[in-house]
Amino acid sequence: MNIQIENLSFRYPNGVLALRRVSLEIAPGEQVAVIGQNGAGKTTLVKHLNGLLLPTEGRVRIGDWDTRHYSVAKLARRVGYVFQNPDEQLFTKTVAEEIAFGPRNLGYPGERIQELVEDALQLTQLQAMRNTNPYDLSPTWRKMVAIASILAMDTPILVFDEPTTGQDAASVTRLAMIIAELKRRGKTVITITHDIDFCAENFARVIVMGGGQVLLDGPARTVLGKAEILAQTYVDPPQITRLGLRLGLAEVVCTPQEFLDAFEKQCAA
Ligand SMILES: Nc1ncnc2c1ncn2[C@@H]1O[C@H](COP(=O)(O)OP(=O)(O)OP(=O)(O)O)[C@@H](O)[C@H]1O
Ligand SMILES: [Mg+2]
Repeated sequence: MNIQIENLSFRYPNGVLALRRVSLEIAPGEQVAVIGQNGAGKTTLVKHLNGLLLPTEGRVRIGDWDTRHYSVAKLARRVGYVFQNPDEQLFTKTVAEEIAFGPRNLGYPGERIQELVEDALQLTQLQAMRNTNPYDLSPTWRKMVAIASILAMDTPILVFDEPTTGQDAASVTRLAMIIAELKRRGKTVITITHDIDFCAENFARVIVMGGGQVLLDGPARTVLGKAEILAQTYVDPPQITRLGLRLGLAEVVCTPQEFLDAFEKQCAA
């Protein structure tokens, strides 16, 4: 399902202009990272995808739906959104109930709900915690519950708002596995992150925001090599990319493996 954002501007009621003429297209099955300094407009942008916010100017289309003409409840069939703070999202007594809430609300039949809940529990490695109260879990696992409850809605598009923030290494690895599995299933995944290594290792396309605008948008290797523009929005390229740039490698590298390959090529030349 295609996402089309045309000339989107958004002003909060207090007068803050948080998005300025943003235009973007995201194709079905793309994995996109959105990065940029605090207050750049990342959350404001993604809240337009499920109708939580509506454009002040311009328009947003999810497939053939203009978000101005569909309710948040309707848009939830197409776009799943995991909040920056999971506590804004969780409210039931057990992990399994929490995960079942979304698909039940979408009116899926009982058997399908069960399948979706099991699948989400497995993807997030929450099986052993299915009967636990989400509020008895650590913040790391609570975040997984929030993610599982969106996975279970089986939407073609998923949006994760800073899933890596405050997560330990094991949880970040788990997230990378979930994103890889969603890619395999042909889902569109849009992830906001401040973790530049996570961005470089898991996303083919990177959108850089600053001051409510898109500063850069393209393949990770092109975008993460543009240190000067990234600096405008207080983002440093990944360490491995910086090392490659400093050594004058012929190509921009994003992962240790890419670094080794490029380094070997350079030495052989
Ligand atoms: N509810 C609100 N009312 C008024 N202004 C807001 C509101 N939410 C965000 N803003 C402002 O809009 C701008 C964009 O904020 P937004 O939350 O989209 O940024 P962000 O890139 O997600 O930042 P962060 O990395 O801190 O989450 C900022 O100037 C912010 O202060
Ligand atoms: Mg945000």
